[in-house]
Amino acid sequence: MAVQHDVVWQNFAVTSSDRAKLLRQAPFVLWFTGLSGAGKTTLANLVAKRLHDLRYHAYVLDGDNLRQGLNRDLGFTVADRQENVRRMAEVASLIHDSGLIALAACISPFATEREFARSLLPPGRFVEVFVDAPLELCEQRDNKGLYRRARAGEIADFTGIDSPFERPANPELVMDTGRLTPAECTDAIMEYLVEKDLVVADWTRTRQ
Ligand code: ADX
Repeated sequence: MAVQHDVVWQNFAVTSSDRAKLLRQAPFVLWFTGLSGAGKTTLANLVAKRLHDLRYHAYVLDGDNLRQGLNRDLGFTVADRQENVRRMAEVASLIHDSGLIALAACISPFATEREFARSLLPPGRFVEVFVDAPLELCEQRDNKGLYRRARAGEIADFTGIDSPFERPANPELVMDTGRLTPAECTDAIMEYLVEKDLVVADWTRTRQ
C-alpha cells in the first residue's frame, strides 16, 4: 500500500539528457517478459553483448539475480510478484534516468505491472519483448529443474502450472524462441532498435 509522505521532488543541475549526451546514446528500457525457461535471460545477455560491442552502455536487470538482493524478501504469491515487478520497473527507470540502457528480464506475468513499467518511461523508450515459447517447450527444456519440482508438488505458485501468465496484448516485439535461434532473435531485436533510431548501426561508434 502506498504511504503518503511529506516529500518534495528534488531537481539537480546535471539532467538525464546531459548524462545521455555524455554517453552518446539515447537510453531506453528493453523489457523481456515470458515464462521461466522461455529465453529472457539468454536474449538479454546476447543483446547486452551486441550493444556493448557497439560501445553502448547497458545494464541487465535479471529477475533471478535481483531476487538474491533487492528483492530477497519476496516470494511468488501474486502480491509478491506485483511488488517484485514494481521494484524492477522503478530500478529500470532509474537506470534509464542515469543515461544507461536497461535490459530487464523477469517473468512479469501481469499486464498491470508491465503497463506500470511502461508508464515510467517517455513514449518510445519502453520496448516490450514478449519471449513467447510454448509451456511444453519450457517444461521440456527445464534448465533449472524447477518445472519437474513444480509438477511433483515441491514448488507452489509456479508460473504456467498453478500461477497465471497474462500474454502481452501489444508488445513491440514477439520472439518465438521455439522457432528462432537465440542469434536470430538477437538480430531481430537489434534491427528493431536500429529502425526506431534507438541504436545507430554506425561503424564509427566502434572506432577506438
Ligand atoms: S516474477 O514473476 O516476479 O517476474 P522473476 O522473473 O522475478 O518472477 O523470477 C522468476 C525466476 O524465479 C524463475 O526463472 C525461476 O528460476 C525462479 N522461480 C522460483 N520459484 C518460482 C515460481 N514459483 N514461479 C516462477 N519462477 C520461480
